Amino acid sequence: MAYELLTFAVADRIATITVNRPDKLNALNDALMAELGLAIDEAVSRDDVGAVLLTGAGRAFVAGADISELSGQSAVQGKERAERGQRTFRKFEVSPKPTLAAVNGFALGGGCELAMACHIRLASDKAKFGQPEVKLGIGPGYGGTQRLPRLVGKGRALELLLTGDMIDAAEAYRIGLVNRVLPADGLLDAARAMLGTMLAQGPLAIAHCIEAVDRGLDMGLDDAIALEASHFGLLSATADMAEGTRAFLEKRQPSFTGT
Ligand code: COA
Repeated sequence: MAYELLTFAVADRIATITVNRPDKLNALNDALMAELGLAIDEAVSRDDVGAVLLTGAGRAFVAGADISELSGQSAVQGKERAERGQRTFRKFEVSPKPTLAAVNGFALGGGCELAMACHIRLASDKAKFGQPEVKLGIGPGYGGTQRLPRLVGKGRALELLLTGDMIDAAEAYRIGLVNRVLPADGLLDAARAMLGTMLAQGPLAIAHCIEAVDRGLDMGLDDAIALEASHFGLLSATADMAEGTRAFLEKRQPSFTGT
């Protein structure tokens, strides 16, 4: 698949998607959003890919939705744009293969929302986060009002949403918005190392963890743990579980096949 506004490269079973519109700080216009949807679809469907690393070219991760496109939209177009973007970001969230945002710089508005839709966020010490939409007289449209409180709690989320203030990587770590902060020049290596650890695990078990957390968080506890028990039972019938437990007992590394 040929992309114009992002690059897609596979190495060591990791698909690296680099948003590549640096002159506009990787702002998400409609064309770039469409490519992001195609790129995550490609990563999920390819057998040679087991994990996804998402980052940005230049000094931004993504500085938000493209304001020049937003400025002229009607109410109907705005709703449709939000729904399209939400569908695209949701693909990153429900991907059965781990998705990791390596936040190299500005992650504002849609950029923060895109990072939040990924399973893991690693931040460079130069990264900046925020939901500045209120400064434009609009609100988040790509899930920010929902994923931010789920990650950092209602009070902290509302502070960020209502002030539009930017926070640095250290503060993002303190409030639980990112998993780790790394020196800028070590960010991608750390991201690949973490994904490498995940790639060494049973891929079906990984997929079930992702699904149980994603679906379970929106269920009552009894339903959620029932879902977990079903997953646990299903995984017991896989070759991967037979191999993983046998390898432990035989004191060797497992060799998982995803079956
Ligand atoms: N949409 C469209 N263009 C954007 C953009 C966005 N969200 N964010 C940055 N750009 C463009 C700028 O217009 C500028 O383009 P130009 O060189 O053609 O004028 C270019 O990217 C560089 O941005 P600039 O503002 O000059 O860089 P800066 O270092 O002075 O400021 C930011 C960086 C991130 C603080 C600033 O660009 C900004 O506030 N961006 C908007 C963030 C936002 O509100 N996002 C939510 C949108 S809903």
